[in-house]
Amino acid sequence: MEVKSIKERHTELTMHSVKFAKDEQGRRKGQEILFKWPDIEKQLGEHKHIYVVDARLGSNNHTHRLWYDVIPPHTEEGQEWRTLGHRHTVEAIIYFLKGHGHSIIDGERYDWGPGDLLSVPMFSWHRHINDGDEPVLRIASTTGPLSLALGQAVYEDERYPEFWIYAQEGEDARKTLIPGGGGKLDNGKIPGNRTAELYAEQVAFAMHEEQLRRKSKVLVKQKDLVFEPTAMGKLAYVVDPRIGFHSKALGVVMAEIPPGKRSGAHRHLYDEINLIVGGKGKVIVEDKEFNFDTLDVLSIPVFQWHQYFNTGSEPLRILGINTRLAMDNLGLSLTHQGEHADYV
Ligand SMILES: [Fe+2]
Ligand SMILES: [Fe+2]
Repeated sequence: MEVKSIKERHTELTMHSVKFAKDEQGRRKGQEILFKWPDIEKQLGEHKHIYVVDARLGSNNHTHRLWYDVIPPHTEEGQEWRTLGHRHTVEAIIYFLKGHGHSIIDGERYDWGPGDLLSVPMFSWHRHINDGDEPVLRIASTTGPLSLALGQAVYEDERYPEFWIYAQEGEDARKTLIPGGGGKLDNGKIPGNRTAELYAEQVAFAMHEEQLRRKSKVLVKQKDLVFEPTAMGKLAYVVDPRIGFHSKALGVVMAEIPPGKRSGAHRHLYDEINLIVGGKGKVIVEDKEFNFDTLDVLSIPVFQWHQYFNTGSEPLRILGINTRLAMDNLGLSLTHQGEHADYV
């Protein structure tokens, strides 16, 4: 076996960092972009829960994933759940395509139907129930890959208490969104100074966050979306901290393009996964072109130019799920606007 010197080994490590970005550009170019609904539907018939965009299946998206699933009539997702359901330290959104039902999120009931969206607050217990006579078809997207990479992905599921990390620590740990409850600090014993204040703020942060999460908006009804003209075309912000959500990683927009028109072109440092909610069209991603239909999924690689065209006779509606907020919080935000949309 070849034995490398310390110098050789550490030079290799340095070059790994230096080469990474260039290699990553190659991986982005090779990323699978279009996922066709008929292929997904075939798999759903067998399993009811199909991961579509997922790094574990070869996607180069490092920050979020998307899956499709079906909840049969008059049943609940995860049939053995009784009270708590499950919770996770990843952000999640769910978009309902067909069927009617309700969700219980931290003890509150939310009723939904086609076109509605749930933004599940971080680490809140939740369950989803189909109340109707037809199957519920939905997609969900989470920041699972990002949380896993950070070593902070906790999934606690009522059915598998043997894998709980915090919930077994008592009633309190089951109710609070904070692992193990909030921190407490008695600053009374310490003479007042700025450093002690800063430290006390650090200890109080989690509890403050929990209060904000509890106040976060959760449900978006389709009818409440506000579409307005932008450089990218007609857009509605669906999930964003600026409109009442306590989201740190996952953002959602809905785009609408009339028949024969095109969106603006842009590129950005965040991952983007699109669900085609209605209509048909074409997307240009750098030097490639893809035709898509309703219920297809697009995975747009980081920092590649993309632009959408409505090639059908119906309005084209695209649900864009992105990790812009996560990138904002890392100071890695950059969006370049190219050609503007050709309609208002
Ligand atoms: Fe969940
Ligand atoms: Fe985009």
